[in-house]
Amino acid sequence: MQNIYSYKETNLSLNINMENQKIQIFDTTLRDGEQVPGCKLNTEQKLIIAQRLDELGVDVIEAGFPISSPGDFNSVEAISKTVKNATVCALTRAVKEDIDAAARAIQFAKKPRIHTGIGTSESHIKYKFNASQDEIINRAAEAVYYAKSFVDDVEFYAEDAGRTDNAFLAKICSEAIKAGATVLNIPDTTGYCLPDEYGAKIKYLKENVIGIENAILSCHCHNDLGLATANSIAGVINGARQIECTINGIGERAGNTSLEEVVMILRQHPRLGLDTNINSKLLNSTSQMVSDHMGMLVQPNKAIVGSNAFSHSSGIHQDGMIKNKSTYEIIDPREVGVTDSSIILTARSGRAALAYRAKKIGYELTKLQLDVVYVEFVKLADRKKEIIDHDVHQIIQNSNIGILV
Ligand code: KIV
Ligand code: ZN
Repeated sequence: MQNIYSYKETNLSLNINMENQKIQIFDTTLRDGEQVPGCKLNTEQKLIIAQRLDELGVDVIEAGFPISSPGDFNSVEAISKTVKNATVCALTRAVKEDIDAAARAIQFAKKPRIHTGIGTSESHIKYKFNASQDEIINRAAEAVYYAKSFVDDVEFYAEDAGRTDNAFLAKICSEAIKAGATVLNIPDTTGYCLPDEYGAKIKYLKENVIGIENAILSCHCHNDLGLATANSIAGVINGARQIECTINGIGERAGNTSLEEVVMILRQHPRLGLDTNINSKLLNSTSQMVSDHMGMLVQPNKAIVGSNAFSHSSGIHQDGMIKNKSTYEIIDPREVGVTDSSIILTARSGRAALAYRAKKIGYELTKLQLDVVYVEFVKLADRKKEIIDHDVHQIIQNSNIGILV
């Protein structure tokens, strides 16, 4: 069967000789995501979500920050014992006690990772630590080295890297690699960077960090200016090979990079030659699962997983959709686990949408019949927000146009 989303096939053919490079998806829904004010998950809920993330195909699950509370420690430990495929990661500060707790919490994981680091921007060094750059480098290197005594897989984060001077960032990252880090996380902690700036930072690090051939760069972006997704994409275009993200983009303040957005951007743009291991058909149900457990609604116009993401309500768009779906849709909804797109009948809908819906519920209207029914439809639609199947049925039956199915 011919794919109606033919623009995608066109792109695919451009990409025919290109081997897709894998971008690792590091999910931090259960750590950075769970820092959302007012939202709290218990261990059982975290386990359910972790198992779903594993099925979804994420490469790394950041399960929590074990030193922060006994409850978080228990959750990380339980997740470590349960997850089958993904790496299980625990966050620490560059502090021995944190690293000890993390190492204990993930000791049962099939693939354990410790994620340790320190603030590197001028304000972090001056106000948070009252230290010098050299002292920060020493603390970072010692933390990575210590974490490495427990696990092979150590990720180093340079908090507020988005506002850190690139030359200093390259220096501390080089030392982290020397101490054993295999992943370098470059967080735009305050969501301040512009995409070209963040992309250039990643490129600079690719070119200037000593030993970078033995490590990968990771994008960790916050959404304070609504740029988390754009920045993460700029990061991978410029050579990063991991994206840290959350389901529905939940997280502190305006949230983190949204997993479903970056996954589908890479999939819809095959010319980039980048892809993930995510089973996109589970995206919609995973979004709903996290929303239910967190008690946090997904905004209806949210890209990919919002309830309006595949709904069409204006007459012009509906007409286009009925003629060919790719006119107004760039993703086949089934690719993200949505059964079908929907044509919402409102006062803005035209005759094409009404005829389409009437046909769906069993009425084949002639042009004349449609004209009569449409007049009644618009009157009702002006009073009601949305016209449902039952309304269409009633209008047709009451219009006395002699039609029975
Ligand atoms: O945003 C951030 O800087 C973080 C780090 C702790 C990784 O979440
Ligand atoms: Zn963060």
